[in-house]
Amino acid sequence: MPHLTWDSKIPPKPVAAELKLDSIIYPGGNGYPGTDPENQLILGDNLAVMSALLPDYEGQIDLIYADPPFFTNKRYPVRVGRDEDSRRPQEWELADGYPDHWPNVEAYLDMLYPRLAIMHRLLATHGTLYLHLDWHADHYARLLLDEIFGPDRLLNEIIWVYHGPSPIRSAFNRKHDTILAYTKSKEYTFNVDAVREPYNPKTIKTFASSPKAGFGKVPDLERGKVPEDWWYFPVVARLHNERTGYPTQKPQALLERIILASSNPGDLVADFFCGAGTTSLVASQHQRRFIANDLSWRAVHTSRTRHIAGSDTPFKMLNEINLRPERLSGGSNVVKLVGSQLEIEPDLVDNLDYWEVDLDWGGEVFRSAAQAARPRKKEPISGELALPEPIGEKQIAVRLVNIDGIQTQIVYPG
Ligand SMILES: C[S@@+](CC[C@H](N)C(=O)[O-])C[C@H]1O[C@@H](n2cnc3c(N)ncnc32)[C@H](O)[C@@H]1O
Repeated sequence: MPHLTWDSKIPPKPVAAELKLDSIIYPGGNGYPGTDPENQLILGDNLAVMSALLPDYEGQIDLIYADPPFFTNKRYPVRVGRDEDSRRPQEWELADGYPDHWPNVEAYLDMLYPRLAIMHRLLATHGTLYLHLDWHADHYARLLLDEIFGPDRLLNEIIWVYHGPSPIRSAFNRKHDTILAYTKSKEYTFNVDAVREPYNPKTIKTFASSPKAGFGKVPDLERGKVPEDWWYFPVVARLHNERTGYPTQKPQALLERIILASSNPGDLVADFFCGAGTTSLVASQHQRRFIANDLSWRAVHTSRTRHIAGSDTPFKMLNEINLRPERLSGGSNVVKLVGSQLEIEPDLVDNLDYWEVDLDWGGEVFRSAAQAARPRKKEPISGELALPEPIGEKQIAVRLVNIDGIQTQIVYPG
C-alpha cells in the first residue's frame, strides 16, 4: 500500500500532559453540588491532552469529530464585539483566535499525524472518526488515515457545500470542505433512520403520477431518504443566532447529522480541536457525554459560555498544568449580596463577558453554581445572579472574565 512519507516523519508517540481540575460548571445550578460530571472541557495541546487520557479512555470514545487548522497559512482573529456591521471589518473588535501558519507542509504533517494516530487509539471498536479539512490538505490526510485505519475503513468522503462571498476571479469559487469518515472496524455505529431526510417534492410528485418512475423500485416516500455524501448547510456567518464570533465555527446542523448517525444516547463524543464548542454542545443536547479540548483559552471560554446558554448538562473544566489560567484577585467590595441575589458593581458590567459564583469556596476546585454570560445581541450582561441556595456563613468565590479576556477572582467576604 502506498504511504505518505516526509523527512521529519517519525512513528507517532504519546507525550502526556498533567491535567488539573480547575472548575465544575453546573449550568443554572443544575446538579449542584452533588454530581461529579464525566463531561470535560480541557484547555491544552491536544497531543498532550489525548495522551493523558489514554490510560482511562483508550478504546472508549464512540465518536471523534476533528476540525483542525486546514493548512491555509492564515491567522483567524476572534470577533469579540457584538452586532458589528459585517461590511466594515475595520470597525470590528478583535482578539487572538488561532493561527494556521506553518513553515512548510512537513511541519503541518508533523502536527496532524501523531494526533490522528492517538485518536485512532482512543476510538472504541465500533467508533468513527470524522476529519474535517478542505483542498489545502485533505489529500495528505486521506493517505495518513489509510495508513492508520486501513484503506478499507473509509466510510465516506463527505463534501460539505455552502455559499459565501469570495474575492476569487481566476478560478471557480472554492465553496466546499471535505470530511473524511473512517471507522475503527467493520462493525460500527450507523443510525440510518436518525438521519433520513424528506424526498425532494419533485420526486414525490413524479412517483405520484407514475409509479414506474423508479424502474420498478418504489421508494418509501414516507420514511424519507438516506442523505447523499454531499451536504448543504449554510455557513455560520449567515446564521446569526449561532454565531459566537469564534472563527471558522461550524453549523450545529452539520454536527447534528454526524452525531445522530454515528453515536447513540449515552455514548461518549470527543472533539480535540473544539473551537467554539459546537460538537460538545450538540452532543449534550442529544444526551451524549462529551470531551472537548482546545489549545486556545478563547476557544475554551467561548465553549463554556455557549454551554451554559444552550445546555443544562454539568461539566468539568481542566487545564494542562503549565497553562494554569492567570487570575487577578479583586476586592470583595465589587459584589454585594441582596437577599438571595448577588449583585456586581454596575461600572464593571459594561466590560464584562462572563461571571459565575461558587457558594462554598474551598480554595481548590471552583464549583460554579450560577453563571451569567454576555448575550450575543448587543445587550448588557446581567449584573445580578440569583443563587440556587442561601450562602449562610460560608465563604463564596466569584470569577469574572472581561471582554479582553482578563480574569479576576473575588473571595467574599474577603
Ligand atoms: C477550525 S477550528 C475548530 C472550529 C470548531 N469546529 C467550531 O465549530 O467552532 C480549529 C481549532 O483547533 C484549535 N487547535 C489548533 N491546534 C491545536 C492543538 N494542538 N491542540 C488543541 N487545539 C488546537 C484552534 O485553537 C482552533 O480553535
